[in-house]
Amino acid sequence: MSLKRACVIGWPVSHSRSPLIHRYWIKLHGIEGDYAREAVPPGDVEAFLTNIEARGFVGCNVTLPHKEAAFQSVRIADEATQKLGVVNTVFRRDGTTWGTSTDGEGFLANIASGYRGWSPANKRIAVLGAGGAARAIVATLIDQGAAEVVVFNRTLERAEILRRDFGTKVKPLPWDKAADALAETDALVNTTSLGMKGQPELDLDIARLPRSALVSDIIYVPLITNLLVRAKERGHPIVTGLGMLLHQAVRGFELWFGVRPKVTQELYDLVAADIEKGTAT
Ligand code: ATR
Repeated sequence: MSLKRACVIGWPVSHSRSPLIHRYWIKLHGIEGDYAREAVPPGDVEAFLTNIEARGFVGCNVTLPHKEAAFQSVRIADEATQKLGVVNTVFRRDGTTWGTSTDGEGFLANIASGYRGWSPANKRIAVLGAGGAARAIVATLIDQGAAEVVVFNRTLERAEILRRDFGTKVKPLPWDKAADALAETDALVNTTSLGMKGQPELDLDIARLPRSALVSDIIYVPLITNLLVRAKERGHPIVTGLGMLLHQAVRGFELWFGVRPKVTQELYDLVAADIEKGTAT
């Protein structure tokens, strides 16, 4: 059996925790494989992906700022990714280089792992932000039968683009309406960069949010954002961003190495410790 190698491409890429996650699974499953970091400058993405096999890789993850460029450079594997316009996972099949997005399923699987049976079906969900991360999450929530996805964004036009692309169950609202509009919300998801280490805090008042509402943040540095701290204090069920990062990695690993890995507490703790240390391993 020959050595199978995958990688993550980004610019910069040194902060990525994907090598830590995939190498953990490679070792756990006794796979003859490796997972590298590849710094690919903007403009070189297409050339890299076109020759991915010649470079010795069975596939890769794609991180910022290359997700759109990757979408343009590979054959898209499924309808959902086609609508999304971004790719975070690239793999080889039948002599072709394919791309897919696993962010939406990572988001859902993460919630389901903490709250078994939770589903967006018939729920009213508030999403903060309308950037790239929001796109995958809003698409998944609609696809899974959410009754309404209210998108609050500083730049309202970006929220309106989500409605155009994913349908009229998406309700764009201005950022300053968020606090008042939380009253009948079943789940709140932060997809903005507010609250991330080095960024301004997310100072949204959540006093009107029903206490049964699930609160989720996709930020994982810090591991527990200020929003999650405040939500926990009010008794809300909370879901961390690190869990989403781990769950989005599952399908890529399976596509490259042929084993569907599990997200365990041990893996969570390993990556959490690396994040708390401050520099990526
Ligand atoms: P990503 O791909 O990670 O989602 P992005 O596309 O830059 O990154 O999106 C960042 C999100 O955080 C956007 O919704 C952005 O709002 P705008 O669309 O108005 O830019 C939001 N965001 C960033 N800084 C913000 C701030 N200071 N106040 C409110 N929203 C902010």
